[in-house]
Amino acid sequence: MDDIIITGGKPLAGEAVISGAKNAALPILAATLLTGGRFQFDNVPMLRDITSIQNLLGLMGADIQREGHTMFVDTGNLCQYEAPYEEVRKMRASILVLGPLLARMKRARVSLPGGCAIGARPIDLHLKGMAALGADITLEHGYVEASAERLKGAEIYFDIPTVTGTENIMMAAALAEGVTILRNAAREPEITALADILNRMGADIEGAGTPMITIHGVRELKPVSAPIIPDRIEAGTFMVAAALTHGDIHITRCEPSHLKSLMHKLEQAGAKIDVSGTSVRVRGGETILSQDVKTMPYPGFPTDMQAQFMVLMSVARGFSVISESIFENRFIHVSELKRMGADINISGSHAMIKGVPSLSGAPVMASDLRASACLVLAGLAAGGVTRISRIYHLDRGYESLEKKFAALGADIARVRAQNP
Ligand code: UD1
Repeated sequence: MDDIIITGGKPLAGEAVISGAKNAALPILAATLLTGGRFQFDNVPMLRDITSIQNLLGLMGADIQREGHTMFVDTGNLCQYEAPYEEVRKMRASILVLGPLLARMKRARVSLPGGCAIGARPIDLHLKGMAALGADITLEHGYVEASAERLKGAEIYFDIPTVTGTENIMMAAALAEGVTILRNAAREPEITALADILNRMGADIEGAGTPMITIHGVRELKPVSAPIIPDRIEAGTFMVAAALTHGDIHITRCEPSHLKSLMHKLEQAGAKIDVSGTSVRVRGGETILSQDVKTMPYPGFPTDMQAQFMVLMSVARGFSVISESIFENRFIHVSELKRMGADINISGSHAMIKGVPSLSGAPVMASDLRASACLVLAGLAAGGVTRISRIYHLDRGYESLEKKFAALGADIARVRAQNP
């Protein structure tokens, strides 16, 4: 196991090139199960979560080759319809194979993901959706078993807009008989990216990116070649880094239109932002101004940026309130930030933050993916040395984050863990 050591306090400057989006790549790779043949994907990020889905597809009989950021997936010979606990427990998004397996293999057996660090995260809406499409669903021995000779289109209303739930049902409905209408669907850019690829595969999906998605089922789909869209959360993390370190970072190969809510908050917090095509230049202002934030489904402020934005508010002038409305236990980074001198009090789903002049480096422990990124940012801004342990969480979702920050002038290194 590795740790990250940072000696903070330097303004960061230079170019940060953004990798492909983990949350777009995962459903798109799951979608390869919908048909047989050879797919090619470019801009696939090098991440542990991508290795997890790769392993899962491999267990089902897919042949996967990687050449750098290009991935070839051949799903001609599927032999398995089971996603075992050992894989699903490593990554909750493994549930994304449920819809495609059910649609193509007529049955699926997928381990229930169980709880995770940021809350209970149920999958009831995925299952209700599959049942509405006519699947027989049983829960036994910790597994979801689903079967259907052929799924049938239906009108489905999501109580809560769920990202992977919308993706799962969209994939299953692509091969269903008749028309499926999803209402109160999630609108994240990763959903639009998946729908675009499914349509190129021969699906007939309209309205992705809006709360109502209409899917006309087709008999079969075909493999395609496609790039993965840029990771908006990685781009957002570099934006916050620029504002936080009073730096000047050019964030390139990103999609600025996916980050409007964050850019708006950063500007209000005093940063200067210039957008040009697929690049964004973020310059930190002299003073960081406090801003209240509430996480919301897209196009609202992303929950996946909440922890990183909290670091910025920890050293802002004045008070701010950050409200988490998506996940019930997503403040686990707060106790570590407090150890670095932040003044934060939690009340239910609200974090009350009194800005302090500076943070001070300390040994801290990462607890989940975005909390890890938050601690890296805190270390970059803090005076002295920060040692972050359990950074395997970081490797799930950020490609070479420490190298990208080092290229911007940060004093950051990955070392062997002291207490693995
Ligand atoms: C996805 C993202 C994750 C992000 C989250 C919210 C992927 C692989 N992961 O996770 O990075 O933080 O969206 O933007 O894309 N819910 C239910 N029942 C369900 C499903 C969800 O109650 O069946 C609830 C969840 O507990 C949560 C809310 O709905 O409160 C939204 O969760 P959801 O959008 O499903 O998150 P994920 O798709 O797991």
